[in-house]
Amino acid sequence: MKTSIVLYCRPGFEKECGAEIQEKAAWNEVYGYLELTKNQGLVYFHLNNPEEGDALMERMPLKRLIFARQWFLTLTEKIELPDYNRVEAITEALGSEWQYADLRMETPDTNDGKELSKFCRKLAVPLRQALRKNKILTEKGDKDGAVLHALFLSGKEVMLGYSQGHNTSPHVMGIPRLKFPSQSPSRSTLKLDEAFLYFIPKDEWETRLTSGMNAVDLGSAPGGWTYQLVRRGMMVTAVDNGPMADSIMETGQVKHRMMDGFKFVPAKQNVYWLVCDMVEKPQRVAWLMAQWLLKGYCKEAMFNLKLPMKGRYQEITKNLQSIKDLFAENNVKYELYAKHLYYDREEVTVHARLLSPVPQH
Ligand SMILES: C[S@@+](CC[C@H](N)C(=O)[O-])C[C@H]1O[C@@H](n2cnc3c(N)ncnc32)[C@H](O)[C@@H]1O
Repeated sequence: MKTSIVLYCRPGFEKECGAEIQEKAAWNEVYGYLELTKNQGLVYFHLNNPEEGDALMERMPLKRLIFARQWFLTLTEKIELPDYNRVEAITEALGSEWQYADLRMETPDTNDGKELSKFCRKLAVPLRQALRKNKILTEKGDKDGAVLHALFLSGKEVMLGYSQGHNTSPHVMGIPRLKFPSQSPSRSTLKLDEAFLYFIPKDEWETRLTSGMNAVDLGSAPGGWTYQLVRRGMMVTAVDNGPMADSIMETGQVKHRMMDGFKFVPAKQNVYWLVCDMVEKPQRVAWLMAQWLLKGYCKEAMFNLKLPMKGRYQEITKNLQSIKDLFAENNVKYELYAKHLYYDREEVTVHARLLSPVPQH
């Protein structure tokens, strides 16, 4: 039997997701070959040595993969489901050896997949019951316990696998469902909302994402990202030559500076958050973000790097490396994560902060 790591990504980004897992697995001396179907949002990394899958998924944080939203290690290949007794067929395929703390019913992130998810919702109730009865599903709220994935490729075909509770997305298919706030001036607001949820642990919000902080938003118009900062009680300097929505200016928490984001320098060193959604060359944005952090203009930065049409994985890796090089030259410790978030399209969201001060010469 083939053992594979199955990765979920945005449809259209299978090549990037595949290139990334293949490269990063090779750093861990794990090798395999890829199988991808364009626009299905799924990547199969078939392992040359099936026994290495578990250790690889233990060693490699999902958070370190840019293009994968979610992943699992296969327990079965594709199983043909009968028209009746599907629950029994799945239960039987799982056997009784292992237990799981949770179950994710998943589909490809495609239009067909959306239809299929209705079928999954119906099947979820009897399947959970049967798995509980057979002591396969414990649901004891054990966060580190294994998570069982049932990936439905059609109503007749399922693949079973598992991920480790401490190294998996908490969301089905790695997709958080966020509600668009009607007061926001633009839909882009969901990108920053998701970024904060994804990169900043909730139990640290009180010190890292809280009311009274000062923030700067570069490329802010019409104000969707500013809205996320304002709603968290921050005072925001919004920098953009374009107009900000009246609704956001009326909050009294926003100062609008109509100028080039590359020329803006904060008057005081009291900015906590820098956020940046400027449609600009990624290498320019990467450089600017590193400068803000190294000069102490802000404490944390959340920004988008636009992806080119071709060589997207190589380009994002190059830009991230340029930031790492600048940090290394300045002898600082740092945290730098990048993710192609669900609400991102042709861009990747990056979070960066310094963990040690810049040494003074
Ligand atoms: C994608 S939009 C930002 C949307 C905004 N984040 C929101 O949620 O409403 C990109 C913005 O970047 C601005 N921009 C591009 N280059 C810029 C620059 N050099 N300085 C300031 N703003 C810039 C554009 O004027 C545009 O308003």
